Amino acid sequence: MRKPYICGNWKLNKTIAEAVDFVNTLKGEIAGINDVEVGIGAPFTCLSALSDACKGTNIASGAEDCYWEESGAFTGEVAPSMIKDAGCSFVIIGHSERRQFFGETNETVNKKVKAALAAGLQAIVCVGEMLEERKAGKANDVVKDHIVGGLEGLSAEQMKNVVIAYEPVWAIGTGETATPAQAQEIHAFARSVLKDMFGEVVAEATRIQYGGSVKPDNVKELMACADVDGALVGGAALKPDSFAALVKFKA
Ligand code: 13P
Repeated sequence: MRKPYICGNWKLNKTIAEAVDFVNTLKGEIAGINDVEVGIGAPFTCLSALSDACKGTNIASGAEDCYWEESGAFTGEVAPSMIKDAGCSFVIIGHSERRQFFGETNETVNKKVKAALAAGLQAIVCVGEMLEERKAGKANDVVKDHIVGGLEGLSAEQMKNVVIAYEPVWAIGTGETATPAQAQEIHAFARSVLKDMFGEVVAEATRIQYGGSVKPDNVKELMACADVDGALVGGAALKPDSFAALVKFKA
């Protein structure tokens, strides 16, 4: 059984004080929920305080990106071990905004995933097609390319610490969610790609989150899909009450 995983991605939002306030409110609302994994991906500046606030709760803290080198002359970059040092347990890698605006490629995603895993972090690897690619009938090709390129060279053992997030770019921040049928179709396809790469056991064990305008009023139908194992959430993860409602999708 794959444990559902609801994870926030705050993107370029929240001060340190706002992050701590958020957790202090959220933790009461989701206390005692142990059958759903909960995480918050936050800006680097928040991470240490966020991790401290999450101590003793069922909420994990993580970063939204990392670099692949451990140290050296790489001005502005942050190493996976530094993210770990800030108390985090995971890092989001290859988000479409990083691919679109910051030159992220499958090759850099792959290096970052390997570095994150080597540092003992869980890697949430984002994949997904743009609107034009979907219109051209290329959604599966793009998703396969992102998965194969991003996870190349990983072992079955390493895959235990990898989560895939399928985020169709046309559904991010637009209010336009993939229908449950659209999500399920790609998720099942993504799992078949994992099976070809790593075998059935790994494919069945790997969580595949959906991301793109997930809200309290559509989370239940998305989570009801056989191959949707969680959500990676932007907008609705910025307020404790809506994020708590997502975590409580079973209620
Ligand atoms: P929204 O939930 O705001 O559409 O963002 C999704 C996303 O990009 C999560 O990583």
